[in-house]
Amino acid sequence: MKVLIVGSGAREHALAWKIRSSPLVKELYIAPGNVGMARLGHRVPIDPSSIVELADFAASIKIDLTVIGPELPLTLGIADEFQKRDLAIFGASKAAAEIEGSKVFAKEFMAKHKIPTADYEVASTPAQARAFLKKRKDGYPVVLKADGLAGGKGVVVAKDKKEADQAIEAMLVERRFGSAADRVVIEECLSGREASFFALSDGQRVLPLVTCQDYKRLQDADAGPNTGGMGGYSPSVHIDAETFKDIMEGILKPTVAGLAEAGRPYRGVLYVGLMLTDDGPRVLEFNARFGDPEAELIVVRMKSDLVPVLQATLAERLDEVAIEWLKARSVAVVLAAGGYPGEHASGNKISGIEAADALEGVQVFHAGTQVKEGAFVTAGGRVLAVTAVGGSFAEAAGRCYGGAEAITFEGKHFRKDIARDALEAMSHKV
Ligand code: AMP
Ligand code: GLY
Repeated sequence: MKVLIVGSGAREHALAWKIRSSPLVKELYIAPGNVGMARLGHRVPIDPSSIVELADFAASIKIDLTVIGPELPLTLGIADEFQKRDLAIFGASKAAAEIEGSKVFAKEFMAKHKIPTADYEVASTPAQARAFLKKRKDGYPVVLKADGLAGGKGVVVAKDKKEADQAIEAMLVERRFGSAADRVVIEECLSGREASFFALSDGQRVLPLVTCQDYKRLQDADAGPNTGGMGGYSPSVHIDAETFKDIMEGILKPTVAGLAEAGRPYRGVLYVGLMLTDDGPRVLEFNARFGDPEAELIVVRMKSDLVPVLQATLAERLDEVAIEWLKARSVAVVLAAGGYPGEHASGNKISGIEAADALEGVQVFHAGTQVKEGAFVTAGGRVLAVTAVGGSFAEAAGRCYGGAEAITFEGKHFRKDIARDALEAMSHKV
């Protein structure tokens, strides 16, 4: 069969690597992909937001399955456009993807279905937002979230009134996020540990994938600014069997049932960002896509062929598949360019990718790279996601850092403490 993957980051490289290994796949296309994927398939120069053009392309060469990486095409309605033309697509419909695309929709949905999440209010004017803050009993910190997609920058955890006022100014007065902040969610700040949970849904059933831990802050010990993710590991050591069950029963199943009931059946991957509080797991956010680097962490642990699983998801046959996992742990470390997440240099020569890739258990997925004069060079803030599997967290982390050290480029920086909490948790167990 012919498969098309939409997106261009390390997440899509990981999906391409896994899908390419399927004996069912004869031809792989990636729109637009990146230079690291060139060996896996044909790159097609269409932007992920050009959903009609993508459907035209898929129809013209009779693509059998299209897999969507990023959220933007989903919220633009790519799944609806493909379905209209009878083209098979793995990705949530526009109506279902609203669970990620609108935080107001997600909060109202959770309130209605009693899915545990932080208490909240919705403000659409600066005066309303200030009034909510004034009457809050819990004071600070408080969390302010732009309703729509804001490139990961639309959430502010304000530690005092001054920071909350600044966020209100930015979102509702200066309108820095445009219409994405027409409405702002003001919510209770939860404390605990964050973790993420991935599941597939065919509209009715839920098939859990795995849990992951990601590290969003730039520096070790969670210091520095938030980023698109500096690494992660899987499975999360903070989700035990009981919590897993609570998440399936109290969050995933009612979410999928509620969306079906609302006429927005969810077919695709559902990514739940959680806060594990003393009172149990609470939803911080839903995403309608695989995470990055979580996709990398998931595919390297997966023994089963991914393609039939994706097909079963869209054919509403998830009851017919079971996924086999390797008895393995995975760890991913993102190698970032100097200056990331701010302004960063590009065009710096990268060496050692092949040496790292050749290490046992290591896969190097490209995010921001280009080829210049026959060599890989940096071309983005997040340059590479070095991913490794191992029989234990210690083995996976050792391999991953071996790979991360083997690669060099000017300005390279990465967190040194990815999976440290997993290693510590393991050392307490006898
Ligand atoms: P979100 O995009 O909604 O997941 O928010 C991004 C990040 O903001 C999360 O990963 C958390 O670190 C933080 N955050 C969001 N909501 C809350 C909350 N209610 N309480 C504490 N931290 C939060
Ligand atoms: N790892 C966070 C994300 O994909 O949003």
